[in-house]
Amino acid sequence: MKKILECITEELKRAFTESGYDAAYAKVVLSNRPDLCEYQCNGAMAAAKVYHKNPIDIAQEVCQTLEKDMFSEVMAVKPGFINLRISEDYLADYMNQMQADACLGYEKAAEPKCIIVDYGGANVAKPLHVGHLRSAVIGEAIKRLSRFVGHKVIGDVHLGDWGLQMGLIITELQDRQPNLPYFDVDFKGEYPAEPPFDISELEEIYPAASAKAKEDETFRERAQEATLRLQSGYAPYRAIWKHIMRVSLADLKKNYSNLNVEFDLWKGESDAQPYIPDMIQSLIDKGLAYESQGALVVDIAEPSDSKELPPCIIRKSDGAALYATSDLATIVEREKDYQPDMYIYLADKRQELHFTQVFRVAKKAGIVREDTDMRFLGFGTMNGKDGRPFKTREGGVMRLENLISDISEAVFARIMENRTVEEEEAKETAKTIGLSALKYGDLSNQISKDYIFDMLRFISFEGNTGPYILYTIVRIKSILAKCSDAGLDVQAGRILPAVSASEKDLMLSVANFSEVIANSFSELAPHKICQYIYELSNAVNKFYHETKILTEEDTQRQASYIRLISLAKDVLLTCIDILGFEAPERM
Ligand code: ARG
Repeated sequence: MKKILECITEELKRAFTESGYDAAYAKVVLSNRPDLCEYQCNGAMAAAKVYHKNPIDIAQEVCQTLEKDMFSEVMAVKPGFINLRISEDYLADYMNQMQADACLGYEKAAEPKCIIVDYGGANVAKPLHVGHLRSAVIGEAIKRLSRFVGHKVIGDVHLGDWGLQMGLIITELQDRQPNLPYFDVDFKGEYPAEPPFDISELEEIYPAASAKAKEDETFRERAQEATLRLQSGYAPYRAIWKHIMRVSLADLKKNYSNLNVEFDLWKGESDAQPYIPDMIQSLIDKGLAYESQGALVVDIAEPSDSKELPPCIIRKSDGAALYATSDLATIVEREKDYQPDMYIYLADKRQELHFTQVFRVAKKAGIVREDTDMRFLGFGTMNGKDGRPFKTREGGVMRLENLISDISEAVFARIMENRTVEEEEAKETAKTIGLSALKYGDLSNQISKDYIFDMLRFISFEGNTGPYILYTIVRIKSILAKCSDAGLDVQAGRILPAVSASEKDLMLSVANFSEVIANSFSELAPHKICQYIYELSNAVNKFYHETKILTEEDTQRQASYIRLISLAKDVLLTCIDILGFEAPERM
């Protein structure tokens, strides 16, 4: 089904052509003066220069040629605007078509692309903190959005599972439990199947080791040494590593699942290691990598750069691989497995240079095709009310699970103030609402911007918040339930032409759905969906406020109202599903 702006633009194109002007001037956009019109075309002004005419004359000619059925009002306004109001019949017809379509009228991509979304990026054995929240939340939305528009999308968590944290844990473990077989060089048997720690011990070991390494140089060197041995395949350390992975992964999976975040692939930096030697050799063979102060580097600067970009370091002078090495090797692996048309990476915006370097090397070296679309979405920081990176009340790093439980508890307290539901149900509902508050609070900002985590504002049922959107959906659900209880068939009837302004406004808002989704995908900007559902929710609530649905006597009109709010609900539900949260039955 065509987007409503496309339908109108097509009609304008016909009118421009028929009046003797190029159809290129016929583009229609949403009105920026809703008080004057609903849609507008500004092409007559540009056409006037080319055809050496007065813009208002062109606008008038076009208006006279326009099909009258499509519009309730067409007006040429000085200096040359074409102001349009869509006809109520046309709009109602569009609503009925949307309703009948499984994708609410969205036309899926004609040529689906294969897209890898690299997000989450948790570091194994380190606690998941709020810094990882944004990556998971935004990445999940981007993944779902790309999938909704019709692409084949693979989400990969790309764990940091190969770094110094592993050597630190191994060394600390050795100091605490020196009798474990992993530290007995003469041990010949099978290593134990059971890990020597559980998740709470592991969570305590890492910070302890990391603190120790800051003070104690010998300890740090031992940890580095252990990391190198692990990386070169030393069997006992490899065995400990597997335990660390298994224990932490179970915990990470639980955490991500609480966030409603699902990965298709649970790969990590370690999976890319086998590809490193050949990848480096080919960079050397191609004449791209060269020695510089003992390190191996690739130049990536381009004449068009506005500032000087340093070369990408592929191998350090001590032979160690780096973050960039592992990301390049990961691309080699992904090319082998999936040949993606597009890569989307989510990470803190301070990693921008890293990704510029990696993308350029990947292109220069032909690891990806010339036309592979490589995108880095760098996000800003989540700050506290003091404008500084968000911390716990004690000033420590806030753990993600605590943040989630804090927000659910705050919502729970609010629900219990009114006490309309049982405590059990209130707990579940609070989780659902809390997640919407957290995710919407994040996603409603432009990705690259910092934002302030303001819990009380985020959980408010009023204003531009997740709970407000859920409240609107729940409200529609409850009206529909009341209608069903009253014996009405909520699936019956058709949407009739609007009879009030608020009804038409609601239809206009619903009609925008496909346009918003398409824009939000092409700009990889989920905040556009948030903005849209906020406006749509406002339109729903205004319509509801001004319209007696349950007591409407004209049964066809009543059925039409019901169908319309139900369509609005479907649009809202589809949007929040893309954003990665759900609505409760009641709240
Ligand atoms: N683990 C990294 C971090 O915590 C993020 C990984 C981002 N993805 C990537 N392919 N480099 O910052």
